[in-house]
Amino acid sequence: MKTYLVTGGAGFIGSNFILYMLGKYDDISIINVDKLTYAGNLENLKSVEQNPRYRFVQADICDKDAISAIFAENEIDYVVNFAAESHVDRSIRDPEIFVKTNVLGTVNLLNCAKVAWETGDDCYRDGVKYLQVSTDEVYGSLGKEGYFMETTPLDPHSPYSASKASADLFVKAYADTYRFPVNITRCSNNYGPYQFPEKLIPLIMNNTLQHKELPVYGDGMQIRDWLYVEDHCKAIDMVIRDGVAGEVYNVGGHNERTNLFIVKTIIAYIKEHVDSEVGEHMIRHVTDRKGHDRRYGIDPQKIKDALGWYPETPFEIGIQKTLKWYLDNADWIKNVTSGDYQKYYEKMYSGK
Ligand code: NAD
Ligand code: DAU
Repeated sequence: MKTYLVTGGAGFIGSNFILYMLGKYDDISIINVDKLTYAGNLENLKSVEQNPRYRFVQADICDKDAISAIFAENEIDYVVNFAAESHVDRSIRDPEIFVKTNVLGTVNLLNCAKVAWETGDDCYRDGVKYLQVSTDEVYGSLGKEGYFMETTPLDPHSPYSASKASADLFVKAYADTYRFPVNITRCSNNYGPYQFPEKLIPLIMNNTLQHKELPVYGDGMQIRDWLYVEDHCKAIDMVIRDGVAGEVYNVGGHNERTNLFIVKTIIAYIKEHVDSEVGEHMIRHVTDRKGHDRRYGIDPQKIKDALGWYPETPFEIGIQKTLKWYLDNADWIKNVTSGDYQKYYEKMYSGK
């Protein structure tokens, strides 16, 4: 029985990962540590809350006492660090919390794991591993040609991506200095169930259903490389099990789309399935994001060759599944967009 310490498991990708892993394996247990910020939602994990192999602990990854206690009380085999402030727009307005959680929180987790796993000078209990869930944004922005490879130099632009790149460098430092067993995964944009509607796909979906304007930053021709969230979860599982310690693995499915294409796809879906009155007239080009990266594109050859990973869900299927999920789970959207969300939305979009 392997025990995973999953941080940020009440967020979008973390909750999908926990559901995926508990559904796939009978011989693992998961401790989910989450601070429950605005982005954390235990409703995502309702279906496993009674599962004896799952436990939730509300804690901040920056809290040394709380994290050390979890290591002292449990024999943790793997740490998977999803916990982060994850939204680029918020990082532009309020960078400090990104440094605190994404950088200092990561260093605290590394330290607590190192202390708990150390058996001698730079030696660790057999089979343990720390996996840092990073992002393609640490590589910066691409022109029309080329892809991000693991060897691409780090060139973050936003406070969010700078904090993620800093965290990656600390993870690397622990591997280089202490021979600490780590992996870093750098994935492209995820989409799927349980994504907080500050992010493009659920935000546009929610606004379209409510007949609100659809804010497209600048010309809308920026490109993101979209991956269905379950394919990301599968990649993380494979890297924990079979990834070579110290290595970085890029994750992406060669699925580059412009933002305008994504927005028009959502409008067309809702027009066909829900409401014939919605249309492209709802699109509003608004002030561009500061420092907006133009194009992301992952080269996933390393994880394909080394671990046999491949993206199973084509975009055409994944996007239909995702949009149907949001329609079928209208209460989920209603709950997460009540209260502070309206204030956030007005503050963020009123000046645009
Ligand atoms: P999210 O914002 O949906 O979830 C983040 C979770 O972390 C929330 O549950 C929140 O409560 C928790 N959290 C925040 N601060 C915390 C703290 N100090 N202590 C404990 N928990 C805390 O994020 P997401 O989109 O699920 O992203 C998860 C991870 O994957 C992040 O590290 C992000 O950088 C990375 N990533 C995301 C994407 C994407 O497309 N969303 C792509 C690649 C990598
Ligand atoms: O690439 C991986 C990253 O993807 C992750 O590391 C981040 O955590 C995640 O938030 C995501 O970052 P993006 O900035 O790419 O995602 P977002 O959904 O915020 O925006 C996607 C694109 O859509 C981006 O070019 C900005 C644009 N956009 C976004 C919003 C919210 C709009 O045009 N209008 C909007 O209202």
